[in-house]
Amino acid sequence: MRIVPAQELTGEVVVPGDKSIAHRALLLGALADGVTRVANVPDSDDLAATKRCLEALGVPIVRNGGGALHVTGGRIGEAAAPLDCGGSGTTIRLIAGLLAGLPFTSILSANAQLAKRPMGRIIDPLKLMGADISPLPPPATPNGRQAMLIIKGGGLHAIEYATPVASAQVKSAVLLAALHASGHTTVRESAATRDHTERMLRAMGAQITHDRETNTIMLSPSHLSALNISVPNDFSSAAFFIAAGLLAPRADLLIKAVNLNPTRTGLLDIITAMGGAVAVEQGHEENGEPVGDLRVRTVAGLRGATVGGAVVPRAIDEFPLVALLATQAEGETLVRDAAELRVKESDRVSAVAVELRKLGAQIEERPDGFVVRGRTPLHGAEVDSHGDHRLAMMLAVAGLIASGETRISGAESVAKSFPEFERVLAGITR
Ligand code: S3P
Repeated sequence: MRIVPAQELTGEVVVPGDKSIAHRALLLGALADGVTRVANVPDSDDLAATKRCLEALGVPIVRNGGGALHVTGGRIGEAAAPLDCGGSGTTIRLIAGLLAGLPFTSILSANAQLAKRPMGRIIDPLKLMGADISPLPPPATPNGRQAMLIIKGGGLHAIEYATPVASAQVKSAVLLAALHASGHTTVRESAATRDHTERMLRAMGAQITHDRETNTIMLSPSHLSALNISVPNDFSSAAFFIAAGLLAPRADLLIKAVNLNPTRTGLLDIITAMGGAVAVEQGHEENGEPVGDLRVRTVAGLRGATVGGAVVPRAIDEFPLVALLATQAEGETLVRDAAELRVKESDRVSAVAVELRKLGAQIEERPDGFVVRGRTPLHGAEVDSHGDHRLAMMLAVAGLIASGETRISGAESVAKSFPEFERVLAGITR
């Protein structure tokens, strides 16, 4: 991808449907009684992985004329071959939880990038529930996939589990397993993570309680009822346009119908702490999720901030952008308590520091985050995505405010969440 400096950014932005909500809609729809209709599923590699795995398990998924997916629930059975999760961490971790509760054997495979990411975090609690689940060793299968997990499901019992890492994927794996476990399962989180699973389970009629004071969720085995779900647009994809709108000259963007679940919008709080502002217009609720339009204009006078603690899981996918914003903020920005960034699609602490330095930033790694000294003018350079969609898109935004041309290799990785990114960006750039 080649990016040249923007003179002006204006117009309406429509980003793809929310990746996290769409995964959950397909997975829970496969368990619910009846046909769940899911509109606005992103046409991305990660959602293709979840759809492919469910179809291989016998779940009928058809696209209607308007593009919505119709998922017929209650038909899951043993697959004939390993389930190919591609590079999707949410697919493999959530489907492992779902399959742990069902009385047949499944093998889950992953691409080389996902095969390096930690799975002990779901294996441990699922084993405590009585699941027979083990990691499979390399080598890779002929299609470049590596078999990663074997699950002989069924016969689960409830547990009380305190998640050692604040991870919505771990929490959701346990909750999906709990739907088929005897007894009442309790999950306690050290800090609140995205709660889309809980909200959708409640909307589908599950017996679930959520104490937000103590971040404790209780779920009993439940029948789920099919829903009509319209997936709101993805805050984590909107975030690239939020940063672009704040940083680029003469910017005025309206980002439409974005999911504004407070467990996702930590970036807005970080921007406020840095002296910036994003306005919410037309806020309302849809399927139990808050949605609104975001108005973003060029900001002057951003200042450095210390970012750590409870906001970290609420902004976990946005830290490449926090680093970029910090390069344009006066003074020092310290990000801490964010060691989880090291086990995303890339080691995002190291990769963000290495790539932003190529553009002229002053950024240093810390074991659990980074320190940025600003503000520094950025200059175009050849940079690399490290195969990480969010790095590729952050570097494109950086290119808008850098002098000269920025060339991003590995930019095809944007297909993981936002295949249309370059076109949408071009549509607002002058
Ligand atoms: C996700 C949870 C987060 C996030 C990922 C999607 C989800 O991962 O980084 O992009 O849909 O549950 P962790 O749960 O590992 O923090």
